[in-house]
Amino acid sequence: MKKMASFLPLDIDFSIDPLDFTPKGEIITRKLSSMKDAFVDQDAADKMLANGQDPLIVKVFMAEIPAEEGFLMVNINAVYPGKVGNEYFMTKGHIHDDPEHAPEVYITLQGNGKLILQNKNGDFHVSEMRPNKINYIPAPWAHRCVNVGDDPLIYIGVFPSDTERDYSFDSRTFKQIVIEKAGKVAFADNPLQNK
Ligand SMILES: [Fe+2]
Repeated sequence: MKKMASFLPLDIDFSIDPLDFTPKGEIITRKLSSMKDAFVDQDAADKMLANGQDPLIVKVFMAEIPAEEGFLMVNINAVYPGKVGNEYFMTKGHIHDDPEHAPEVYITLQGNGKLILQNKNGDFHVSEMRPNKINYIPAPWAHRCVNVGDDPLIYIGVFPSDTERDYSFDSRTFKQIVIEKAGKVAFADNPLQNK
């Protein structure tokens, strides 16, 4: 309790364009080369990288908040527009390591996204991400954000700050992927599931 008492009220300034967040804690950036395995079309990913394209797909600014019980982490997230083959850019997807007590809230500020949700029973759900939407992710649901628009998908996340992200719930677990088909957003069975 002593540590909590010593943590002072915190005000954060952020902007969407350019994406910024002050004061900054950890900054996470994921380019295609660091998350290539998340995408189904490995040939398309290899071709992009061989052509010298290594696009930035995800950027996250974390607040400087203790990773301890009793605190809430706040971050701002960007998923940039683009595709690997016909699959839209997305986050790797994760589940929280404390599936009973670690929910998350997303508040979308810009863009057009699909929030893919799946629990360990295999129940699958898709939520919309767009401005004026708040998504509540119950604790036992894995989550992945897919940018299906032309602009960066920007959203704020809030979750218990002692939560670890478990990435073993990955592209081989999600039932469906989000692709462009005939110029439209479409869902397809995930050919990597259980492989
Ligand atoms: Fe999360």
